[in-house]
Amino acid sequence: MRCREIGPGFVAQVTDLDLTRPVTALQHAQLNHWLDQYLVLVLPRQALTESQQIDFSALFGPPSERSRPQDQRVEQSPFAHLIGVVTNVRDNGQPIGSLPDGEMWFHHDGCFIERPYRATVLRAVQVTSTGGETLFVDMRQVYESLPAALRAATVGRSAVHVFDYRTLNQQPDPAMDLSRVRHAVHPAVIQHPRSGAHALYVNPLCTVRFIGMPVDESQALLHELTTAILQSSACYRHRWDVDDVVIWDNWASCHARTDFPSGEVRMLRRSIVSGQPLEPALSQ
Ligand code: SIN
Repeated sequence: MRCREIGPGFVAQVTDLDLTRPVTALQHAQLNHWLDQYLVLVLPRQALTESQQIDFSALFGPPSERSRPQDQRVEQSPFAHLIGVVTNVRDNGQPIGSLPDGEMWFHHDGCFIERPYRATVLRAVQVTSTGGETLFVDMRQVYESLPAALRAATVGRSAVHVFDYRTLNQQPDPAMDLSRVRHAVHPAVIQHPRSGAHALYVNPLCTVRFIGMPVDESQALLHELTTAILQSSACYRHRWDVDDVVIWDNWASCHARTDFPSGEVRMLRRSIVSGQPLEPALSQ
C-alpha cells in the first residue's frame, strides 16, 4: 500500500490496495493514521459492491444509519439503510437519491446533528463529461491563516447549523424558525477529536448564526469566515473517474460541488462513519 500527497497538505492518493479483499490490521491502522494526518484520501479503481463499501467505511468507525432512507432503493437494496445514492436520476420526475442537481456550496456533512459524522465515503458509479467536481478545503489551514483578530473573534463562540438541503446554494435565513428544521449547536473552532488540531467549524450552506451575538454582527463574522474558506489556498478539486473511492474527515474539512450538465447522469454511492460531540478549541 502506498500513499502520496496530491493536494495542498491534506489530500493523499492511496494505491496498491485492493478493497475487494480483506485488509490487514496494519493496513487498517495505517489508513486511519493517514485519514487523521491528511483529511481526504483518494483510492482510484476500487469497483466495490455496496457491502464492500460498508466494510471499508467500518474500518474508520461504526457505519451511520442514513437519516432519510426514503428513496426507492429502500425496497431494492438490503443495504439501503447504510448506503445512499447521490444522483440526479429521476423516476416519474422524482429524484431516486439525494442531493440531485447542480452546484452545492461548502458544508460539513452532519453539522446539523449532535454527533457530527467522522467521515463520508463516496464511490463514483457514473460521472458527467464535465463539472460535478467535489471541492475540499482544509479547515485546519483556514483557521491557521485567519488574521489574529478574526481568530480571537471566533474562538470560544458557538454557532447553529441547520439541515435544509432543499436549497444547495443559498445561505440559511439567520431569522429562521429553528423549531421547524433539524439543527445543532457546535463550537465555531473545534479541537479535532482524534488529532487535537484546531479547525474552523462553520460553513456557508448550513451555518445560520453565532449564539449570543446580534444578527448583523453574526452575519458580518460569518461573511468574513466564509470569504476565508472560499479564498483558501488549501483547496483541492476532485475530478471523478468511475470507481474512484474518496473518504474525507468531516470534522476538519468541508466540501462543495461544482455545477454539471443536467442532461447527463451523475451517480455516487455514499456511506457515512458515525461521529461524536465536538469539543471547543480552548486557546488560539
Ligand atoms: C456531498 O456533499 O456529500 C455530495 C458531494 C458531491 O455530490 O460531490
